[in-house]
Amino acid sequence: MNIPPFPVLPAGFRFGAATSAYQIEGAHDEDGRGASIWDTFSHTPGRTRAGATGDTAADHYHRHREDVALLRGLGVDTYRFSISWPRLLPQGVGPVNAKGLDFYDRLIDDLLAAGVAPAVTLYHWDLPQALETPVHGGADAGGGWRVRETAEAFAAYAALAADRYGDRVERWITLNEPYCSAFVGHAEGRHAPGTQEGRGALAAAHHLLIGHGLAVHALRAAGVVGEIGITLNPDRIHAASDRPEDIAALRRAETLHNDIWTEPLFAGRYPAHEAETWAGLADGPWRLPGDLDLIGTPLDFLGVNFYRPLTVAAAPHRVADPEQRTAVDIGVAELDPYGTRHTTMGWPVVPSAFTELLCQLHVRYPQSPPIWITENGSAEADTVAPDGRIHDPDRIGYLAEHLAAVADAMAAGADVRGYYAWSLLDNFEWARGYDQRFGLVHVDYDTLTRTPKDSYHWYRGLISAHRART
Ligand code: NOJ
Repeated sequence: MNIPPFPVLPAGFRFGAATSAYQIEGAHDEDGRGASIWDTFSHTPGRTRAGATGDTAADHYHRHREDVALLRGLGVDTYRFSISWPRLLPQGVGPVNAKGLDFYDRLIDDLLAAGVAPAVTLYHWDLPQALETPVHGGADAGGGWRVRETAEAFAAYAALAADRYGDRVERWITLNEPYCSAFVGHAEGRHAPGTQEGRGALAAAHHLLIGHGLAVHALRAAGVVGEIGITLNPDRIHAASDRPEDIAALRRAETLHNDIWTEPLFAGRYPAHEAETWAGLADGPWRLPGDLDLIGTPLDFLGVNFYRPLTVAAAPHRVADPEQRTAVDIGVAELDPYGTRHTTMGWPVVPSAFTELLCQLHVRYPQSPPIWITENGSAEADTVAPDGRIHDPDRIGYLAEHLAAVADAMAAGADVRGYYAWSLLDNFEWARGYDQRFGLVHVDYDTLTRTPKDSYHWYRGLISAHRART
């Protein structure tokens, strides 16, 4: 195999690895943890591939010491993990679960002892089920992120976490990919809570942003020592052609994927093309005076997750009546004109799109805070070779090319401070279950044995070469 040369990043650039609670912890009903919408969803027949659940996942809850040792061996500066809200607050609000608080205390202390700075995501999609129910039936009814109370509950949970861990966490991420929570969860229905709504999804998008703003205030009020930000998955979207209808489709896709988040966060306004995208659904009664100020509370960094680009073309709406449409029925078809390698997720590998995205953000929002790449990585068809090792040259190639793409964006002026590889471990890839392996470390789901892949050793080499050089 041809090992790619290590990409060269500037002095001060930092390296990490990332995971999330539901994807690795398991122990779904231990030590007082409450259920989340992902427990409900994954236990509903037909929702996940082969009926996979996070009941055991990578069993990180019981093996966190071993996982911290893997991080120490990797030599990362920082580790991004998420706190399970229902492990701290089984009902979402109210009584606190002391054993849940203790678990993350131990994890954080072990990380610090290993020389790895903790970065905490507060919400990586596992809403306490108690806040989702009661769902009163009907597409656009229900609780969860459709209602403002959930944003307030999120802020109270953020305050609890800040109070307990605020002296030791280097980086706080309020939300992970709210696009997925709002639209994959409430419009496509591929993720929990698994509904197909119009209004509900747009209300959820807004309340996620309100929850973010309230949580930023709660973290600052608690005096946390770490930086505060949010993680988005902004897309680099290409139009299939320069025909006016495809350019209009691009505008709608930009509104759905990007502008609904970045405009309120960094420009103090709602997206310019929202009426064109959603007709009367966009501007719902969930918006209150003062919300834009709250959402736009200044941040210390923007987290960016990137995996692949998108290409869109104009397409007929699936449903004629705008009132009856889901929030993703915006008259857009996604095409795949990329004649490149695809990962096992079916995603095209196009590192230049990463450079373009980072440059686009930099040009469009010159006042936005510095960027951390909070996720990037690839799912590959890993197998354990006869020599007992996992040879994953495609993942190494993916990481090398995408880090080089970050370096290119920095050379063009983008302010990027660090990079978290997704993921430390193979884990529960949501509706795709356990077939998709993103880890630097292989997990045997029968024995839960961890085996570092070639990419782990490559990434360790890259980090030590970076340290030696800078
Ligand atoms: C983004 C999500 O944050 C993470 O949970 C997921 O596993 C990766 N994308 C890969 O799909």
